[in-house]
Amino acid sequence: MSQPIGIFDSGYGGLTVFKAIVEKLPNYDYIYLGDNGRAPYGNRSFETVHQYTLECVRWFFDKGCPLVILACNTASAKALRTIQQNDLSRLAPDNRVLGVIRPTAEIIGTYTKTNSVGVLGTQGTVLSESYPIEIKHFYPHLNVYQQACPIWVPLIEYYEYQNAGADFFVQKYLDQILAQSADIDTLLLACTHYPLLMDSIRRFLPEHIQVLSQGGIVADSLATYLQRHPEMNARLSQNGKTSFFTTDDTNNFDKHGSVFFGREIQSQFAHVI
Ligand code: DGL
Repeated sequence: MSQPIGIFDSGYGGLTVFKAIVEKLPNYDYIYLGDNGRAPYGNRSFETVHQYTLECVRWFFDKGCPLVILACNTASAKALRTIQQNDLSRLAPDNRVLGVIRPTAEIIGTYTKTNSVGVLGTQGTVLSESYPIEIKHFYPHLNVYQQACPIWVPLIEYYEYQNAGADFFVQKYLDQILAQSADIDTLLLACTHYPLLMDSIRRFLPEHIQVLSQGGIVADSLATYLQRHPEMNARLSQNGKTSFFTTDDTNNFDKHGSVFFGREIQSQFAHVI
């Protein structure tokens, strides 16, 4: 029986992480689910993000996934801990759900020379304070500045991110975070949708500021996790198969998702609830 790794996002964004994971670990089987029908999650309450994410995690478990990666910062910030601490023991105690914030926090301090990093994320991720809290565990002396970019995900989900009007909002949030400190030398794209805006982001930033996206970081951390957890590794099937599901229109998902993923995809409709 196929026991794939589940990769979850509220919509398309997780595909930027999934792409890096498949490049790093091509032999495993994977199922990707985008909850496009209910995206964006970024401005929703803790309760709603927890409920939606939990429904999707259950869907993955029903599909036979022993391990699910929340390739979504908003879900990692607002739902992961409750799922790990309260829901998992009831649903499937031997299964695991992992997020993207901790692996990023673990490594971010190695990039900055000024000890000052900027975190760009959804309103939900920023207000949760998850990044400052997690980063302080690993790098107590790091200065962490945050900026919510609430318009960026809708620009991407509705495929408007390459149009001229998008530049206004890209520049607006970058100016706001840079105004918080002249020492920031590293900006983290703490939302898995944002790498799609990389070209515009670069255009509005001084050259000395580096921009980090999470795909490679999460892929490396998953590889390490699987080495450290042979019991989980042994449960995962390895036929190199990937399948894609969305809770919204599959034609749209195939068209836009292929751009995020970098190759043709054919999705199926997922009835999550
Ligand atoms: N890709 C999700 C993240 O990393 C974004 C979210 C949204 O649905 O607002 O935060």
